[in-house]
Amino acid sequence: MATHKLLLLAGDGIGPEVMAEVKRVAAWLDQAGLASFAIEEDLVGGCAYDAHGAAISEDAMVRAKAADAVLLGAVGGPKWASVPYEARPEAGLLRLRKDLQLFANLRPAICYPALADASSLKREVVEGLDILIVRELTGGVYFGEPKTIMDLGNGQKRAIDTQVYDTYEIERIAAVAFELARTRRNKVTSSEKHNVMKSGVLWKEVVTALHERAYKDVELEHNLADSLAMQLVRWPKQYDVIVTDNLFGDILSDIAAMLTGSLGMLPSASLGAADPVTGKRAALYEPVHGSAPDIAGKGIANPIAMIGSLAMALRYSFNQGEVADRIDQAIAGVLASGKRTGDIAGPGTETIGTQDMGKAIIAELD
Ligand code: NAI
Ligand code: MG
Repeated sequence: MATHKLLLLAGDGIGPEVMAEVKRVAAWLDQAGLASFAIEEDLVGGCAYDAHGAAISEDAMVRAKAADAVLLGAVGGPKWASVPYEARPEAGLLRLRKDLQLFANLRPAICYPALADASSLKREVVEGLDILIVRELTGGVYFGEPKTIMDLGNGQKRAIDTQVYDTYEIERIAAVAFELARTRRNKVTSSEKHNVMKSGVLWKEVVTALHERAYKDVELEHNLADSLAMQLVRWPKQYDVIVTDNLFGDILSDIAAMLTGSLGMLPSASLGAADPVTGKRAALYEPVHGSAPDIAGKGIANPIAMIGSLAMALRYSFNQGEVADRIDQAIAGVLASGKRTGDIAGPGTETIGTQDMGKAIIAELD
């Protein structure tokens, strides 16, 4: 069995607490012969700034590039509120995304039956929900030039952001979505606003052409982004894979995330291009939540989003979908047995801490 080189960047706040449970699960998988890991650890975020004066060291970047996958906990917190802009904790994360060219952000929204009542929507709308949002992460209006605020000299200012997409950027993100759909329910919904945006016109054209050329077996539909936002809240189960640009993806993935309850439950992946020779893709896996300074150090953070990120690494980087399924089933089993961390417990429900949740997931795996 291939040994997976994992770099763990636990980061700040609750990062190290939830990462400890990933190590526990990885050690169990290793010992059970289900997966083999060679684990290295390094710093990112505020803790890296404290140690090196930068949110990620050059050495850590070298190790990140050499790893098969990087797992990141969370960065930031009030302690670093006044560090210089270039060294702020988020800069470590942005540097990883940029240098590893992680253009595809995968955000699953899964609703475990045991938690369906925690959603703000009705149980029948969300129970069993399993959708995947594929967001373009390195292009679009967050990066396009010109990007400026100019003084018009008449007491007015003008702010400009520019949405730019080239064919290859749309093609490569759409290809990721089609490939993923083939491993799921074989349906892709592509979303833009071709009715009012030129980038939307090109987006739709390129996705349609790629579909014709290489993915005819996958069902493809196009939804305008505003209408998709409505549909996600009305009847989300009609979707499988949703592919969209950086801006719309930012918003739509947050909507989808909240359909299913707590931040503490949500993993994510960011993938780069596959190397044409080795097939290896740069990949960063991290929970959607931040460093949660309000509960850091108390041992009560929910480790499920972080453990789910390890499951995504097994699925998307290591081609071990069956092992990822086992982890997901163990999480579902623990939730079905009524065990809850504070963030997902109803009022008056007994809760367990971070370590006990990690141990419960291992007991369920066992
Ligand atoms: P947050 O996600 O850290 O926390 C929001 C709320 O959710 C808090 O009440 C927190 O206690 C709770 N929460 C989050 N994760 C949880 C978990 N695993 N278990 C139980 N409860 C959990 O977002 P917030 O408060 O806006 O940001 C705090 C810090 O984290 C800031 O410095 C922010 O910049 C940083 N941040 C970092 C991110 C990253 O590393 N990717 C993403 C978002 C925020
Ligand atoms: Mg967002």
